[in-house]
Amino acid sequence: MNQQLRSLGRAPCIGCQRRALVVRNVAEAVRPVVASTNGKARVGVPEGTPIVTPQDLPSRPRRNRRSETFRSAIRESIVSPANFILPIFVHEEGSNNIPIASMPGIYRLAYGKNVIDYVAEARSYGVNQVVVFPKTPDHLKTPTAEEAFNPNGLSQRTIRLLKDTFPDLEVYTDVALDPYNSDGHDGIVSDAGVILNDETIEYLCRQAVSQAEAGADVVSPSDMMDGRVGAIRRALDREGFTNVSIMSYTAKYASAYYGPFRDALASAPKPGQAHRRIPPNKKTYQMDPANYREAIREAKADEAEGADIMMVKPGMPYLDVVRLLRETSPLPVAVYHVSGEYAMLKAAAERGWLNEKDAVLEAMTSFRRAGADLILTYYGIEASKWLAGEK
Ligand code: PBG
Repeated sequence: MNQQLRSLGRAPCIGCQRRALVVRNVAEAVRPVVASTNGKARVGVPEGTPIVTPQDLPSRPRRNRRSETFRSAIRESIVSPANFILPIFVHEEGSNNIPIASMPGIYRLAYGKNVIDYVAEARSYGVNQVVVFPKTPDHLKTPTAEEAFNPNGLSQRTIRLLKDTFPDLEVYTDVALDPYNSDGHDGIVSDAGVILNDETIEYLCRQAVSQAEAGADVVSPSDMMDGRVGAIRRALDREGFTNVSIMSYTAKYASAYYGPFRDALASAPKPGQAHRRIPPNKKTYQMDPANYREAIREAKADEAEGADIMMVKPGMPYLDVVRLLRETSPLPVAVYHVSGEYAMLKAAAERGWLNEKDAVLEAMTSFRRAGADLILTYYGIEASKWLAGEK
């Protein structure tokens, strides 16, 4: 029989071919064949299941997938609450948490007890890292965003509150001017509509130092100005904060997926006026979503300037860039599962179109598989509950 099968590869005569079709598997034959069961009913398979000769297949990857025990024994990527950094939005316009319409389940937390309670819950599930985003009232916003380095600003007070309450919590900050800038940009906007690079960096340095003074463990420049990591490193060191780390938003793309975040902080670019042009988007400083190699350039700069952690943002649409940084640098890699990605999953889950738990944990696993050590995600608490086996 084997002899016969083997000879088939060598253009046999028409008669041989017809006879051979009876014994060849469908997968090997050009046309499907229904093999006879010789009248005997077969047990354990549905009637109509074809009888075939086993494939001569030394490598069968399915052997390694046969049981959950074995699958979990050989799993390559593991997600743990230890990988998560939980973003928190803080406000002080009243004492209630304020829901964010485009991010169901996420709130602007009222400064004080509500912030503490939320972080305490996260810690109870093993999430011990947070990043603080303040909602600045409009009357404190200016074109030069001085509120960013107010030693008693909401951001600085929140950092202090968190570190006083939970000394071993890792507190990350955002370094960028947009939540404090009346123009809604990460840097200072000139009258001609240019986002000023070096002038902005002066204020980013003051902001980072003020956050370090408040007790921040890691400052995270998300502004995408050139040279800001080095400048912030020098400013921190000059002030004695050599132990404060920098997590750089290394490859931050000009993405449509930040929409809900800008709703949360009311921080989107504002409309311009006749005498002051305000760019409607951030494309002159955030990266073009079409670019891959450019991320290498950013990564080299950040490494040389003293970044401790490099981040890619957004997450799911940019897993190739996560893998790129993983392979081009020995620094830990973080990925930001951004507000729009959260909103998409929530929206589909609310409609019953996706199994939320499975879809979210699959996303988290994919970040780890792509090479991320750290994952910034609004699902931090929920995903940790699911990982702990809760419904
Ligand atoms: C501010 C900043 C943004 C995000 C994090 N830091 C918004 C932006 O760049 O416009 C987005 C986070 C998210 O969408 O979840 N520079």
